[in-house]
Amino acid sequence: MAARPHIVRSVRLPEAVEARIASEFDAPPPPDKPLDTDTLFRLAEETHAEAMLVTHHAAINAEAAQRIPSSVKLVATVSVGLDHLDVAAITARGIAVSNTPDVLTDCNADLAMLLILAASRRAAEYTALVRAGWGRDLGMDEMLGQRVSGKTLGIVGMGRIGQAVARRARGFGMTVLYNNRRRLSPEKEEGATWVEHLDDMLPRCQIISLHLPGSDDTDGMVDAAFLAKLPKGAIFVNAARGRLVNEDALIDALRSGHLAGAGLDVCRNEPHPDPRLLELPNLFMTPHVGSATVETRTDMGMLALDNVAAVAAGKPPVTPVTA
Ligand code: DGY
Repeated sequence: MAARPHIVRSVRLPEAVEARIASEFDAPPPPDKPLDTDTLFRLAEETHAEAMLVTHHAAINAEAAQRIPSSVKLVATVSVGLDHLDVAAITARGIAVSNTPDVLTDCNADLAMLLILAASRRAAEYTALVRAGWGRDLGMDEMLGQRVSGKTLGIVGMGRIGQAVARRARGFGMTVLYNNRRRLSPEKEEGATWVEHLDDMLPRCQIISLHLPGSDDTDGMVDAAFLAKLPKGAIFVNAARGRLVNEDALIDALRSGHLAGAGLDVCRNEPHPDPRLLELPNLFMTPHVGSATVETRTDMGMLALDNVAAVAAGKPPVTPVTA
């Protein structure tokens, strides 16, 4: 690559990242709104870009991978998740792929805790009440939430983020069970208990939190049968990917009261959630903002640029992804 590598990006990045782009890279001005795949490719073609910084707005499936302009040597996604990329199809063209692991673990785990607390403590209903003017004292037995300390939290998917959630949950006095393909070492378990079969774990969890990647294998894994195995009054949390959940089943479980509440940062049809979700008083929802802090989004952008700089220097990406 050239001394000042030519890059394109699908979104405007935080200020410090944009400043680094301006000083170290050759790039078109940041887009006012996220670019879609075809627009990004067109820009890459016009500017002979050697690297593309992408987000889920500019998905690259197997078909699109064939159309990546030939100047491009690296697709650097500013995310840990890879579900918007067909990594096998991109790398088969000799184009490297990188992502941004680790730097968003803490913020994502914080957001999962926010959802656990908000859903358990009826934050959506309280906020709605206050915004409607509040106006009267609540009775001692009225609108009561659920205590989280002393409860059992089940974590499905005990990767970096799952482990960070477990660490936080222990601070809140929760017992942590986890289901993962493999049992972790005792140092990584830090007191959490591995349950080999999900079916054995679900009935023991008053709170369940998903920390799995979205893929064809995990699509819709949370269905009516999954939810029915949770005890009545459980809390369901998803800060991972919307496609993990069958939303009809989730809506039924929240309407019937089988689930006392849910906290979601993601849904299937982002950014247009199923309107039935929005009518549920016992749902607390945020708009896919697990990594949305100044510090973390800056770290993610910087890591993506480190990957570009490494490839520009003829080295492998710092955080490469392989199919
Ligand atoms: C990630 O990094 O995968 C976050 O979910 C943002 O898409």
